[in-house]
Amino acid sequence: MCGIVGYIGTQQAAPLLLEGLTRLEHRGYDSAGVAVLGGSGLRSAKRAGRVRDLGDGLPRRFAGKAGIGHTRWATHGPATDANAHPHLDAVSDAAARVAVVHNGIIDNAAALRAELADAGVELASDTDTEVIAHLVAASRAATPEARVAEALARIEGTYGLAVLQADFPDRIVVARNGSPLLVGVGEREMHVASDLAALVRYTTTVAHLDDGELAVVTAGGFTTYRLGGPELSATDRPAEQVDVDPAAFEAGEHVSFMRKEMLEQPARAEAVLRGRLDTRFGTGHLGGLNLDARELRAFRRVVILGCGSAYYVGQMGATLIEELARVPAHAEAASEFRYRNPIIEPDTLYVAVSQSGETVDTLLAVQEIQRKGGRVIGLVNVVGSAIARQVDGGVYLHAGPEVAVASTKALTNMFLAFALLALQLGRVRDLSIADGQRLIAALADLPDRIEQVLAREEQWVPVAKRLAQAESLFFIGRVRGFPVAREGAQKFKEISYRHAEAYQTSELKHGPLALVSPEVPTVAIVPDDELLERNITALQQIAARGGPLVVVTHEGVDLGDLDPSSSTGPARSAGSGGSAGDARPEVTRLDVPRSERELDPILLTIPLQLLAFHAAEHLGLDIDKPRNLAKSVTVE
Ligand code: AGP
Repeated sequence: MCGIVGYIGTQQAAPLLLEGLTRLEHRGYDSAGVAVLGGSGLRSAKRAGRVRDLGDGLPRRFAGKAGIGHTRWATHGPATDANAHPHLDAVSDAAARVAVVHNGIIDNAAALRAELADAGVELASDTDTEVIAHLVAASRAATPEARVAEALARIEGTYGLAVLQADFPDRIVVARNGSPLLVGVGEREMHVASDLAALVRYTTTVAHLDDGELAVVTAGGFTTYRLGGPELSATDRPAEQVDVDPAAFEAGEHVSFMRKEMLEQPARAEAVLRGRLDTRFGTGHLGGLNLDARELRAFRRVVILGCGSAYYVGQMGATLIEELARVPAHAEAASEFRYRNPIIEPDTLYVAVSQSGETVDTLLAVQEIQRKGGRVIGLVNVVGSAIARQVDGGVYLHAGPEVAVASTKALTNMFLAFALLALQLGRVRDLSIADGQRLIAALADLPDRIEQVLAREEQWVPVAKRLAQAESLFFIGRVRGFPVAREGAQKFKEISYRHAEAYQTSELKHGPLALVSPEVPTVAIVPDDELLERNITALQQIAARGGPLVVVTHEGVDLGDLDPSSSTGPARSAGSGGSAGDARPEVTRLDVPRSERELDPILLTIPLQLLAFHAAEHLGLDIDKPRNLAKSVTVE
């Protein structure tokens, strides 16, 4: 989604702004721009397209030691040069006094635009942001912060923003309401960004603004204020050292961040489990929940909220919680939750799950629950993020920075955190110590199993290439396997742009089977569990209609005459050719090692990440920056 950078200090701002914007490219964007403030006043440059093109096209004289920059992900108006940020209060740099970059959405922009137009203001874009520049410019307040505060008082909606004002060349004003904004402290210089990724190269001393906070940033430091009252009141927010390795934001020798992040999974899985496995009592140890055994036992229901892949892992988590704790649990899309006027119960445990901790749909669901008196815990990766700060307790995922839009390692750690939570909820109820210890041992072993799955990558590349040829694919699974199928389809469509749809295997014959044909492959999740026989029956129905099959299953599972190695049956392996007129369907199996059944979903998910990755790579697509998508979705 949109990204913000800012710089003020002793160096020329433009190269630093461009570098910062490059670091934010992964968030997803369609245009970019910068503005600097120097001896000759405000200068700005912006265009639809890549940051690299913006840099190449910058005028030679673009001097200024204060500046702001932006990557835009279009909401109001298409991705054009005019709609790119920064927005000014005038149609030319020469006449401009104010430049603004903004993330978020201004809900009353139409009314404000009409008001400005009636007053004779010439608007240069279709955006909501442009009104902020005009409102700031219209203010007669004495200080730059008061001018911005006055403008913001007229605005309804969400924002993270940064403002340059020609009348105050030694400061940048930034503010936050619902969209992240960080201030980074350097040596006689200060940085501003919407994401830590843009700052870590320069500093790891960072202040996260709160919603409703504004900061005045100069080369020597920053001062924070609370917005909203008649006067700005100081908030004295400190900058803190963040514990992050800047190298974690680099792809290093890897071809893409997604590949790097998939390969990191064993190590990151170890990190989320560290110190949280109680072998003696066979339970999880999640101190951050802020819930004692009596409180945990009192919950009669668990509701999990997340978006996209986080929602699908939430479904895996709900199944785990029901299995281990025998408490009714379900997951739902956080984006829909508050619009159906949900019933919030005091004896329900609400769980918000998010990698970024900034997904606005999930954040708003959390706020809705809290407004109605519910208790929410968070499973969140990014430390200090909005959801992490909003929830009543929670678990950090310790996946490290995740840069690729397609989430992998964070999802794995979400699942592991759910396993720990399910154990903890189970062990204060009826889950036996023996079962608890069985699962704790399996969790301890899981990083090695993940490593074993990843080690099979090369064998599966031809399968991915074969799937990449299909315009349309099915992913199917049952019960524990269904969210795995949903996540597999999600990953595949996100980065390979193929139409990939997930169904419950049991639902195929109620409709989707009509679409099965030799052109539509099915990726089937078939764990060695109580549903194996039924799953195989469904596979046979697909095979009988000529549908190619990729079966993700456990080592040693007997697929009968569907097995590619079977000499008696009708099947052959994908890519093995087959003579003309050979009507036998293709069947390929991808075997994963066994764990305990309850933990199957995560090991079955990893081959699907690899399939999506290699299909997209084969198609020559930009894996880390898939079209139309953003890493953190900070608008509704
Ligand atoms: C995952 O590959 C997707 N990019 C997306 O569905 C993501 O999981 C979703 O937007 C939620 O993000 P969050 O975990 O940061 O809240």
